Amino acid sequence: MGCDRNCGLIAGAVIGAVLAVFGGILMPVGDMLIERTIKKEVVLEEGTIAYQNWVKTGTEVYRQFWIYDVQNPQEVVANSSKIKVKQRGPYTYRVRYLAKKNITHDPENHTVSFLQPNEAIFEPSLSAGTENDTWTVLNLAVAAAPHLYPNTFVQVVLNSLIKKSKSSMFQKRTVKELLWGYKDPFLSLVPYPISTTVGVFFPYNNTADGVYTVFSGKDNINQVAIIDTYKGKKNLSYWPSYCDMINGTDAASFPPFVEKTRVLRFFSSDICRKTCVYFTSSFSTFKS
Ligand SMILES: *[C@@H]1O[C@H](CO)[C@@H](O)[C@H](O)[C@H]1NC(C)=O
Ligand SMILES: *[C@@H]1O[C@H](CO)[C@@H](O)[C@H](O)[C@H]1NC(C)=O
Ligand SMILES: *[C@@H]1O[C@H](CO)[C@@H](O)[C@H](O)[C@H]1NC(C)=O
Ligand SMILES: *[C@@H]1O[C@H](CO)[C@@H](O)[C@H](O)[C@H]1NC(C)=O
Ligand SMILES: *[C@@H]1O[C@H](CO)[C@@H](O)[C@H](O)[C@H]1NC(C)=O
Ligand SMILES: *[C@@H]1O[C@H](CO)[C@@H](O)[C@H](O)[C@H]1NC(C)=O
Ligand SMILES: *[C@@H]1O[C@H](CO)[C@@H](O)[C@H](O)[C@H]1NC(C)=O
Repeated sequence: MGCDRNCGLIAGAVIGAVLAVFGGILMPVGDMLIERTIKKEVVLEEGTIAYQNWVKTGTEVYRQFWIYDVQNPQEVVANSSKIKVKQRGPYTYRVRYLAKKNITHDPENHTVSFLQPNEAIFEPSLSAGTENDTWTVLNLAVAAAPHLYPNTFVQVVLNSLIKKSKSSMFQKRTVKELLWGYKDPFLSLVPYPISTTVGVFFPYNNTADGVYTVFSGKDNINQVAIIDTYKGKKNLSYWPSYCDMINGTDAASFPPFVEKTRVLRFFSSDICRKTCVYFTSSFSTFKS
């Protein structure tokens, strides 16, 4: 035998030591290389990996809706009874799948401006029913009219139109109508040129959200995708306090090197406010 037991042990120890030293050197070098590559590739500019994924959001974004079905509409109208509702859902739509439009880079301020086209596709596999499911809900036009027109005379006229159109405080509508719009019979009778289509998110298809101006991260990687202005403003001018601020990203992407302790802030134009998520071991919780 060319090598006895001791010799084998020593060879093993030497090889182990050499590998450990290499590992000790290569690990930080590797980390450094990875960090440098990430820093280069997450910048929002032509040619980076993140850019393609950003222009047309690579991950699937869903929006889910739960609807309160009113159980006792007649009782509420006739006797002012307490309203009884049952929550139904979710109804899931895939959104934000269209590529961003009108992208303009501002190399001076290290920002990118864009419009996010809106379109929603129903996702039956993630929904509790079909888009044709019908629920009893508040009649949006009837409920809003007295608030929009406090004048007594106008209200008398509106009331007669509501009766004439056989509208009431409540209505039966499909999920699709409720979210994306329906022609309202009461508003159709109003003798003024007003919009007669009502829907929580109407109009949505063929519209665009923005202009958003976000940081490209070129000068500061921790700012990647964070919104600088929305529709040209730094605040919403809608809420009285911190809800009015536009902090964070649009939630489709976040700056890299996220630690568990980091609070992820984002702005949602649909609910017209910012919000944020905290890491927890089993699930993430929303907070203001
Ligand atoms: C309203 O209350 C009256 C008296 O309690 C009752 O007779 C009537 O059925 C109620 N109407 C509805 C629609 O529940
Ligand atoms: C977006 O670009 C189109 C075509 O280039 C232009 O007509 C439109 O006005 C632009 N929209 C905004 C908000 O800049
Ligand atoms: C850069 O930002 C400043 C301050 O917000 C602004 O006045 C300026 O117009 C911006 N530059 C360009 C090229 O848009
Ligand atoms: C919006 O467009 C998508 C995709 O073309 C379509 O599936 C959906 O039905 C449209 N929604 C409405 C309310 O027209
Ligand atoms: C929903 O209703 C529309 C129009 O009435 C119909 O074309 C469509 O097939 C229905 N969808 C389902 C899933 O029942
Ligand atoms: C935005 O809102 C914050 C908090 O309410 C306020 O401190 C700040 O002055 C506002 N900025 C602008 C530009 O209105
Ligand atoms: C949020 O945005 C406001 C206004 O733009 C800014 O003053 C504030 O420092 C931001 N807060 C955080 C936590 O980023």
